Amino acid sequence: MPDQAPAQWLSNSLIVSRYREKTPGSAKLAKEAAEVFPSGLTHDSRYLEPYALYVDRAQGAHKWDVDGNDYVDYFGGHGALLLGHNHPEVTKAVQEQIAKGSHYGASHPLEVRWAELVHEMVPSAERVRFTSSGTEATLMGVRLARAFTGRSKVLRFKMHFHGWHDHMTSGMANHFDGTPTTGVVKGVADAVVLATANDEAGTRAVIEANPDIACVIIEPTGASFGRVPVKPAFLTFLRKITKEKGIVLIFDEVVTGFRVSPGGAQAEFGITPDMTSLAKILAGGLPGGAIVGRKDILELLDFAQTKAKGVEKIQHPGTYNANPISAAAGIAALTIIKTTDANKRANASAAKLRGLLNDAIVAESVPWAAYGTFAGFHIFTNPKRRAIDPKSFDAFAADPEELKGAWSANITHKVRLGMMVNGVDINGGPGGVMSAVHTDADLERTADAFRATLKLLKDEGDIR
Ligand SMILES: Cc1ncc(COP(=O)(O)O)c(C=O)c1O
Repeated sequence: MPDQAPAQWLSNSLIVSRYREKTPGSAKLAKEAAEVFPSGLTHDSRYLEPYALYVDRAQGAHKWDVDGNDYVDYFGGHGALLLGHNHPEVTKAVQEQIAKGSHYGASHPLEVRWAELVHEMVPSAERVRFTSSGTEATLMGVRLARAFTGRSKVLRFKMHFHGWHDHMTSGMANHFDGTPTTGVVKGVADAVVLATANDEAGTRAVIEANPDIACVIIEPTGASFGRVPVKPAFLTFLRKITKEKGIVLIFDEVVTGFRVSPGGAQAEFGITPDMTSLAKILAGGLPGGAIVGRKDILELLDFAQTKAKGVEKIQHPGTYNANPISAAAGIAALTIIKTTDANKRANASAAKLRGLLNDAIVAESVPWAAYGTFAGFHIFTNPKRRAIDPKSFDAFAADPEELKGAWSANITHKVRLGMMVNGVDINGGPGGVMSAVHTDADLERTADAFRATLKLLKDEGDIR
């Protein structure tokens, strides 16, 4: 579709007018929000033209907006809700804990049980340090790696996301030449080197050219949960070369942790990094994160160990580290994931949905494809209209920029709006994450909504 100015496509679209008709309460709130928030928003990925959806309540795999409309939800709390909204055991644990106090300003029993579960489930988690978010986890990961190696640089992969702190901005959505994004100092950007995932020779060359690399960090299934997928063989290569060169390997499992399998992508692929960043499912849908990893690295946070070694301890306060309510939710969620087939069910539902979406694509003769691995799905909107077979689409053979490119296009908004007017909320990839509680009826409703959306987009001339 042409990249028109929003005003143009917004006023000409039946999809947009249906969305407006269905969501007057959201429109009103968006207007109020615009007076207090930049863009009226609190998270960039909730950006939606003509305005964002305002949600009032959620249960299981569904959520309801302020106008009472029901949506099958694939935003999944930005990936935090593998067990769906308000899982009864998670809710009960939170209710019990909140009645006992929200913050003790002290160590507490739940943080110990929570860390023990992480230690038992995640292969690399010899030691655990809780943070308040995934961003804080990768921030501490970088600092630990630098302190441990005495080196300064961070090697990242283009398009991979590791939170929003200063080291993680260039080369994620833009600035692929490594120049600093606005508000970040040049010195920080210069300490980040970028490589292309799956390119072993190129990555080796970057590592050889930069003897000062402290750590390599990667989303182990690929950028944006495999929207631009990574081959497990590339992870094996990284494990080998980082070992050879004394570089700390960090898997950012903020999304994949407890989702791909109870032990995350590292357990699934049998590759153990030196450190792992965790968040989202870790805290059962409440705020929380952790940096976990080798004992000898995390010892840099240890009062006695650093003193004994005569090295400076890394400081790590954080008002909400291991907050008791997050700990209660996290213990409940991780226990269910550890002891049930929740991952298998979510993975199987996602595979089924990818098949149903491709059936709709074939039925509507649209040159798109649904793809993905584990408990997620991505929709390739094929900006260059290449000849593809949706059923055998190989994301590894596709151009990474085309896979991720839909982000900037109006089409993403329209696909989301089309799905919303048909009762489904997906993310802006476009794509989504699956829970273990989506039913077959939810999946079928999603496929019907997708087919109806494709028809609407064809009617509006957005896809031919
Ligand atoms: C792979 C990855 N790393 C880090 C983060 C940052 O986590 P948080 O939003 O908790 O700061 C995210 C968030 O989406 C993520 O997807």
